[in-house]
Amino acid sequence: MRFNTKEMYLILFRLLKRVSKIDIHSLQVAYISKIVGRELGFSRQRLNVLGFLHDIGLLNPVQVNQVQRTLGVENASISNWLALNSGLQENHAVIGARIVSHIEDISELSDVVEKHHYYPILLNPEIDHDIMASVVHLADSVSIQLLSGEKDFNHMETIKRAVVNSNEFLEKAKFAFEKISEKKGFWWTVVDENTLYDEFERDLEENPLSNSDLQSLGDILMYMTDVKSRFTTFHTERIAYVSKLLAERAHLGEERAMEVFFAAKIHDLGKMATPISILEKPGKLTKEETFIMQRHIFDSYLIVGGREAIEKHRLLQWGVNHHERLDSSGYAWGKSSTELDLESRIIMIADVFVALTEDRPYRKGMSIGASLDVVARQVQSGLLDEYVFTKLRDLVAEGLDFTRIESNTRRTLFFYET
Ligand SMILES: [Fe+2]
Ligand SMILES: [Fe+2]
Ligand SMILES: [Fe+2]
Ligand SMILES: [Fe+2]
Repeated sequence: MRFNTKEMYLILFRLLKRVSKIDIHSLQVAYISKIVGRELGFSRQRLNVLGFLHDIGLLNPVQVNQVQRTLGVENASISNWLALNSGLQENHAVIGARIVSHIEDISELSDVVEKHHYYPILLNPEIDHDIMASVVHLADSVSIQLLSGEKDFNHMETIKRAVVNSNEFLEKAKFAFEKISEKKGFWWTVVDENTLYDEFERDLEENPLSNSDLQSLGDILMYMTDVKSRFTTFHTERIAYVSKLLAERAHLGEERAMEVFFAAKIHDLGKMATPISILEKPGKLTKEETFIMQRHIFDSYLIVGGREAIEKHRLLQWGVNHHERLDSSGYAWGKSSTELDLESRIIMIADVFVALTEDRPYRKGMSIGASLDVVARQVQSGLLDEYVFTKLRDLVAEGLDFTRIESNTRRTLFFYET
């Protein structure tokens, strides 16, 4: 079954919730932007999504990790980000706009995200996108003030006055907000988490995602995952590449091979929630740390939408299965061989093979040949699939190498190395 835009945004929401502490802020900005924007004649569905995505650039793990190193907190909240007051948060609007420009559904509005901290002097009050940017800026400011004080009448009145008297927003945006802010229901909604989520979810449209939209979502998620740690810079990208080739070699057909491609792109999504201190620990993990590390599977499972999503879209299961083994010794569920289909077996092998070729904090990466030998032994031990292995062996014999992927510069579209 085809994915739709609603499912895509909900994956991004769950990612945001699991990986950062900016989920409530994002929901508040989505709600305020759409209510204020509607007053100005803009589509509430568009502003709902734009408001939600406005700070998506903060998800850039390169920056998140720097925050972690600077502040010692694993997942930065909005107040952590604001406290930094440095170049670390500076690029988030530009990065966010780059991410949004790769989401076909909303790409033509990516400049709104880029301008969401602009003052009126940089905006044209006659241009719709600029007005929307100012609306999102205003919503952002209201949310930040709400999150940093009491949820009571006096605080709300203070925020109202501060916004109306501020010179940070276009007059049109302030005027619309002034009207909206007279409504008590607006304030009660904006501080009620469940209602906010409900508001967000109900205004998401269910437009079918084309195959290329789905792949581009996969790319965004893949780059975010890979860039998190210098040890995994190309991990997912290589696995996706190998998995797709294996699927083609296993005669699954072009369409199915593309589904495997997407599944491989999101296989380690949950690693975005794994503490960097564990991902990069320069020694053997303790049992407790292993428990946390292995949880990335469960986080992937939750982020893609849990059981309901997996039952609807079989390909989501393939990614989540990648640490299972045919003799039931794998995790997270210790599945048996009968529960592991060919597509899952492809990603299982690709993951082991590629991981062996990569440096880890506690060992050097192996050559492609040596890695293939290790995979061969695991196949003999009944852990990995024999048929898929023969296809991998063919690929290696034909000179498989990763340099083609490594020369790929698309990741610079999304992230700055700071
Ligand atoms: Fe922002
Ligand atoms: Fe924000
Ligand atoms: Fe994994
Ligand atoms: Fe992996």
